Amino acid sequence: MSNPSLLILPGDGIGPEVMTQVKRIIDWYGEKRDLAFDVSEDLVGGAAYDKHGVPLSDETMAKAQEVDAVLLGAVGGPAYDDLDFSVKPERGLLRLRKEMDLFANLRPAQCFDALADFSSLKKELVAGLDIMIVRELTSGIYFGEPRGIHIEDNMRIGVNTQRYTEAEIERGARAAFELAMKRDKKLCSMEKANVMESGILWRDVVTEVHADYPEVELSHMYADNGAMQLVRAPKQFDVIYTDNLFGDILSDCAAMLTGSLGMLPSASLGLPMANGRPKAMYEPVHGSAPDITGQGKANPIACILSFAMALRYSFDEGAEADRLEAAIEKVLADGARTGDLMGPEGGTPLSTVEMGDVILAALDASL
Ligand code: IPM
Ligand code: MG
Repeated sequence: MSNPSLLILPGDGIGPEVMTQVKRIIDWYGEKRDLAFDVSEDLVGGAAYDKHGVPLSDETMAKAQEVDAVLLGAVGGPAYDDLDFSVKPERGLLRLRKEMDLFANLRPAQCFDALADFSSLKKELVAGLDIMIVRELTSGIYFGEPRGIHIEDNMRIGVNTQRYTEAEIERGARAAFELAMKRDKKLCSMEKANVMESGILWRDVVTEVHADYPEVELSHMYADNGAMQLVRAPKQFDVIYTDNLFGDILSDCAAMLTGSLGMLPSASLGLPMANGRPKAMYEPVHGSAPDITGQGKANPIACILSFAMALRYSFDEGAEADRLEAAIEKVLADGARTGDLMGPEGGTPLSTVEMGDVILAALDASL
């Protein structure tokens, strides 16, 4: 049997720097765990625009459709701020999500014990925090038609449309209920059913799907209250299911609870392919971080944890994902810190490469 295939799209800013460390981890699995991948690499975002004039070429899109999983670094940067909307780096990312039909975006927000002091919330509110946000990723206001800017009566009007079919709400809800079944069996669905018809439909459909998962305790919350509850008492949540736009906002909010955006991975999953694996793309939640690009000090952990999610969700290697996550917990507990994780006690931060070194050493020690 041939090796599973990975397409690496490092992208812009710190994307290539953190992805270099992920490639070392991938090689480690090939050498030490007999888990080799066929890895290819290509351009996305501003890097693709510079070469092809588009943030994702048709060739790269076609490759992404064929591989077992895509690993993406980050897209965007100030050099591309003035580009036309249609070729902005973010459009490359949105095209991948839409054309691969990656409807279930899993965004875990986990607080590592060693970092509980880094949260802007009191330590006792976040220690042991473990939330999974499931964000619908292929529909809603990000993609709804009509959209655009037009002129009526000499006035410019900006239009976007929130639109959800029941099938779209349902398939994401099933993914969220399935995850809840493997966790603490609690699901909170968030929408704005008090002001939006799409929110009323959302609540109805999630309630209908619940009939198939009677063991899961389902609750509903208005998304604004959800934002408030996330900063008031985040540990009340297990799995949260919400739409594309609310999920974008609530996941940033949840991410910051853990102290550092540089720690959080994500998985975007679609329908099963012929080989049974889901269509999938894995990416850190952080962006391209232009302020520290090229300085060798970015935290590679979110990107490495994204590869751990790939091991778990694409390759059925849960034990190896556990191994990688444990190695990261270990180095953090031992005090390894990149610049974004420096507390008031100070110290010398590790470079991106040095963080890769200590994680590889911890992996070696786990054998
Ligand atoms: C995210 C990002 C993206 C989004 C941007 C870069 C298009 O904020 O993945 O959360 O809005 O979905
Ligand atoms: Mg976002």
